[in-house]
Amino acid sequence: MERFREVRGTKDLRPGEIERWHYLEKIVRTVMDRYGYLEIRTPMFESTELFSRSIGSDTDIVQKEMYTFPDRKGRSLTLRPEGTASVARSYLQHNMGRGKAVTKLYYMGPMFRYERPQKGRFRQFHQFGTEAIGSPAAWYDTETISVFYEILDAAGLGPLTVRLGSVGDPGCRPAYTSLLKEYLRARSDELCGNCKERMEKNPLRVLDCKNRSCGGAIESAPSLLDHLCEPCTAHLGEVRSTLEKGGIPFELDRSLVRGLDYYSRTVFEIHHDELGAQSALGGGGRYDGLLEDLGGPPTPGVGFSAGMERIITVAESLEIEWDGGDEPMIYVAPVEETAAGDVFPLVRRLRRRWKTEGVREVRNLKTVLKRASRAGAGIVLLLGAGGALTVKRMDTGDETGVSVDHLEEEVEDLRKAIAARRSEERDS
Ligand code: HAM
Repeated sequence: MERFREVRGTKDLRPGEIERWHYLEKIVRTVMDRYGYLEIRTPMFESTELFSRSIGSDTDIVQKEMYTFPDRKGRSLTLRPEGTASVARSYLQHNMGRGKAVTKLYYMGPMFRYERPQKGRFRQFHQFGTEAIGSPAAWYDTETISVFYEILDAAGLGPLTVRLGSVGDPGCRPAYTSLLKEYLRARSDELCGNCKERMEKNPLRVLDCKNRSCGGAIESAPSLLDHLCEPCTAHLGEVRSTLEKGGIPFELDRSLVRGLDYYSRTVFEIHHDELGAQSALGGGGRYDGLLEDLGGPPTPGVGFSAGMERIITVAESLEIEWDGGDEPMIYVAPVEETAAGDVFPLVRRLRRRWKTEGVREVRNLKTVLKRASRAGAGIVLLLGAGGALTVKRMDTGDETGVSVDHLEEEVEDLRKAIAARRSEERDS
């Protein structure tokens, strides 16, 4: 019978790699906490309309990439393709902004998009991200870029490129959109089939096309940055100067547009050269009209999301040591049949403080050590007749007898000695 496999575009995260995920998750939580973002967990599926209304009904995500299905009562539901819409929905539903100038939230979890799987692109992937809702101030745009940059930096992922742009607001964008449409119509014979369609419905989308044939037309297209209204120009100027003062390097990207329609003013992405075509580790921007579009009062917001698979791929290719779970494990084994019954209570006692494995079967010493080493043990405890205890250090092979009353102290000393040796080895 044919065996089952992971569904195309999905991936099991197994022991051996999950440790990297834990480490990244820990960095994310630590930095988010320092920046004052609180965690929110929203459901994995929502009503389909939430996404079509927020992301935009003629974006690729809504048109082609959503996992949409009717439930048993015929309601249309969708597996979330991103987190912002759900957070905005939850913010409005629970009136989370009551009595606060800004509400700062972060999230982490799986998202679903029916895309063509390739390096850095999956159908189930994971994002972490933030949403700061309630303030129009450029301060929060900068803080959003900063918290993302800080996480990547803390994970050792340099060098990074922050690309910054602006998509204007409903005041200045329409005039630019008509100008762009006119320009694209004049060069429509150079555009791919998709872009010929996009050009009429949503010309900004054309600027995001990765098809080589469209490259020439995109490159010399007019830039929105030259057509921003005065308040949008001032807003971008403030983000730029705050980033400069804060020492966060960035490049102004004159044609940066994003795959979602809810943005206004600031947009940005952080890239890493290691990733090639899918080089965006993440991106985000301001969405001052989104909450109103979802039926709420006018409420500005800004946020980002990062692709965790992509971050982990870069960390792997840079060979960054990210294991964190490097604790020397303790392995307990009897060397006499009469001691076999003492293994379990001892293992239980040690597990109150440390990672410990035990076996009940008596084997010769060579086999015990081989198995302990395969299990990743740093310390082996051998139990003999009458409660005799021998402690063995796996890295040096040293062994000593120890009394059961002083076991914890002895183990603690050994752990320190092993950790010191490991860090010396790492530094040399
Ligand atoms: P996005 O640009 O669609 O933005 O996605 C953010 C990041 O998620 C991407 O840069 C990429 O690293 C990762 N990503 C997206 N699709 C895939 C995929 N199929 N496989 C692997 N990784 C992927 C958003 O999702 C917005 N919600 C960002 C935001 C938050 N804007 C404001 N607040």
